[in-house]
Amino acid sequence: MPDPATLLVADDDPGLRESLERTLTREGYRVVVASDGRAALERLQAGGVDLVLTDLKMPALSGIELLHAAKAIAPDVDVILLTAFGTIEEAVKAMKDGAYDFLTKPVQRAQLQRVIRSALERRQLIQQNRALQQRLDALLRQGAVIGASPAFRRMMTLVEQVADSSATVLVQGESGTGKELVARAIHERSARRNGPFVAVNCAALPETLLESELFGYERGAFTGAAGRKEGRFELADGGTLFLDEVADLSAVTQPKILRVLQEGELERLGATKTIRVDVRVVAATNQDLAQMVRDKRFREDLYYRLNVITINVPPLRERREDIRVLAEHFLRVYAAKNNRHLDGFADEALGRLEGYSWPGNVRELENVVERGVVLARGVQIDLPDLPEEIAGATPLPEGVLTVRIGTPLAEIEQRLLEATLRATRGNKTLTARLLGIDPRTVARKLERWDETAEQGEDDRAPA
Ligand SMILES: Nc1ncnc2c1ncn2[C@@H]1O[C@H](COP(=O)(O)OP(=O)(O)OP(=O)(O)O)[C@@H](O)[C@H]1O
Ligand SMILES: [Mg+2]
Repeated sequence: MPDPATLLVADDDPGLRESLERTLTREGYRVVVASDGRAALERLQAGGVDLVLTDLKMPALSGIELLHAAKAIAPDVDVILLTAFGTIEEAVKAMKDGAYDFLTKPVQRAQLQRVIRSALERRQLIQQNRALQQRLDALLRQGAVIGASPAFRRMMTLVEQVADSSATVLVQGESGTGKELVARAIHERSARRNGPFVAVNCAALPETLLESELFGYERGAFTGAAGRKEGRFELADGGTLFLDEVADLSAVTQPKILRVLQEGELERLGATKTIRVDVRVVAATNQDLAQMVRDKRFREDLYYRLNVITINVPPLRERREDIRVLAEHFLRVYAAKNNRHLDGFADEALGRLEGYSWPGNVRELENVVERGVVLARGVQIDLPDLPEEIAGATPLPEGVLTVRIGTPLAEIEQRLLEATLRATRGNKTLTARLLGIDPRTVARKLERWDETAEQGEDDRAPA
């Protein structure tokens, strides 16, 4: 059984007040009463009221004044006015000011019931609608690129820089690091954002099917080609074509792609007419394409065409600062999707997430958080809600920063400084002392990093 609705009845006539209270209580409502407008307003401010029934003429604060105040402090609580004979005109005016309805005294029981029920139904619909809207907003934010680490910010700066050119971009990174998301981010930040974003997975289709997908075909081009079909290159005209798993292109298809990239033109299979297309290509791979070129498994000329700009998406274990923000983002998304109210991770659980090696990268983290949202018994995701291999992972020791060999010094400097600041709870003087540098140097460096990060700022989730 859902909670009964709470009705606030305001009337200065004790007899009427009590009779209404009795009637409505018998019908299953919770009823609170007020003997004048001021008391009613106070009760309304205290919260928990679903609907107001008020007399029009009351001492201290009239029904109309109460209505205006109610609209200001609790706009989605409806007000029904009870009017004596002769005040109808005033009641009609009140309707214009936002009253839900008015009833003339003596109030008919059936009518009272009907008006209350429909007002409460409307309120429920409005509330459901708002909840859905909030869930939708959370879901839409699923497309946002989230991250906080210096490596992530540097990558997003590069994304911003390349977006506006039409240069081909090669996005490289391990499986699940977010390559497709980066490709979409490039498209959305480019002048082509209103054009189509078309994705093709080069590994998913056998060679001939892939070619007919990419270039399209004319009727009768091959057995089974009943009509003509536009290829993905044509569909992406004016937009971006995302060539996913590009390392899997066959030796036959590779030169055909090279031609489109070089000349901007192609023919549908079985056609003689040449079609010109204006397409920006973003390619992605989780393989070492340069090595494949050396091994003669990928054409060198195509490699250089694709690789005008390379964006490397680092594995998650090399940007551990992103784990927390990503985990919190996915928690919001999946809690909304599953209609669960969760307010975060238990410290211990978060520690394990931050310490784990994430071979499946962000996709694995996303799956683990989704699972945790479903399993969580409390208001937080806790250790038992994590898969065994993660719950059993050694938590990252406090005060330790892991750095991969070959990390640029500038990045190590930034990570170390930011980690020290976190550890000292933002104390710049202490941070400077620990690191053996001047406090002004700390301030200056932070300022500079803030400036370079500003562009990527919109991409980060609100904390
Ligand atoms: N920085 C990020 N912020 C938010 N979500 C992310 C981020 N990176 C990855 N994801 C999410 O992780 C999942 C995997 O990302 P994506 O599909 O882009 O990875 P990928 O590198 O293309 O993987 P694969 O190599 O397996 O194709 C997606 O659901 C994506 O939305
Ligand atoms: Mg992908």
